[in-house]
Amino acid sequence: MTLPTPRILMCRPDYYGIEYEINPWMNRQRQADRTLALAQWQALVDLLGGLGAQIELVPPVAGLPDLVFTANAGLIFHQRAILSHFRPRQRQGEEEVFAAWFASHGFQVVRPPSEHFFEGAGDALFCGATLFAGYRIRSDIRGAQWLAQELGCEVIPLELVNPYYYHLDTCFCPLAPDTAIWYPPAFDAYGQRVITQFIPRLVAVADDEARAFACNAVVVGRHVVTNTGCPRLHEELVRQGYTPHQTPLGEFVKAGGSAKCLTLRLDGEDAAAWRQMPVEGSNGSS
Ligand code: ARG
Repeated sequence: MTLPTPRILMCRPDYYGIEYEINPWMNRQRQADRTLALAQWQALVDLLGGLGAQIELVPPVAGLPDLVFTANAGLIFHQRAILSHFRPRQRQGEEEVFAAWFASHGFQVVRPPSEHFFEGAGDALFCGATLFAGYRIRSDIRGAQWLAQELGCEVIPLELVNPYYYHLDTCFCPLAPDTAIWYPPAFDAYGQRVITQFIPRLVAVADDEARAFACNAVVVGRHVVTNTGCPRLHEELVRQGYTPHQTPLGEFVKAGGSAKCLTLRLDGEDAAAWRQMPVEGSNGSS
């Protein structure tokens, strides 16, 4: 069986900047350099393109500086796009932009009930058949419960306890159905226990590399793309048979994001079991 070409949604950082502070990384006194940000973003596009991914673009919108973080557009499940509903009002304007893009690109847009906050693939990641859902800082636990019903799959809610690791994708990254990168201190004791129980192969990152967004990796087959500054993770990935790549993303770290946050996998993550099994009613194409 040949798998479809990886499709990744991104957004040019034409209007990117640190215009508000909604996580501890952001400080309006530490502005992003837009020219450098564009160069870093373009290098990520080129790297992912070189790995065989097809990059799709949502047009940037003035006044929505965080629209570049397309991981937060929603959660993709087959042809369904579970739209995000952002907790910070500064990002709520992105919801209709992403909804329109999904609807015009063949996705069925599903909206979470308005009383639940849900920040898409930033907080919900499949590892195998199980959806791991980060909650408390951005998404809420009732959103995770609603998601379990909506998708009919097992959802494991994971409480995020460190404000620097406010989205699940800043501290957890599935690589394959049985393998993930993680930063244990971002979770409480229960979360650490369930992750250890459910995922047989875990690669833990150290404090300094977690701060360099080591866990915020884009996975394309056996290739793993991160920010610079994670050499020990990269050595371990090589030992495990992966091919790591680094590219500088410091301008985006100023907003609390890195490689993974800048992308949304439209055809399903490599680690998601559903990607390998087309369901009835889905033709598996786009
Ligand atoms: N400034 C953005 C925010 O705080 C960064 C989002 C990063 N995205 C992610 N998937 N972790 O919402």
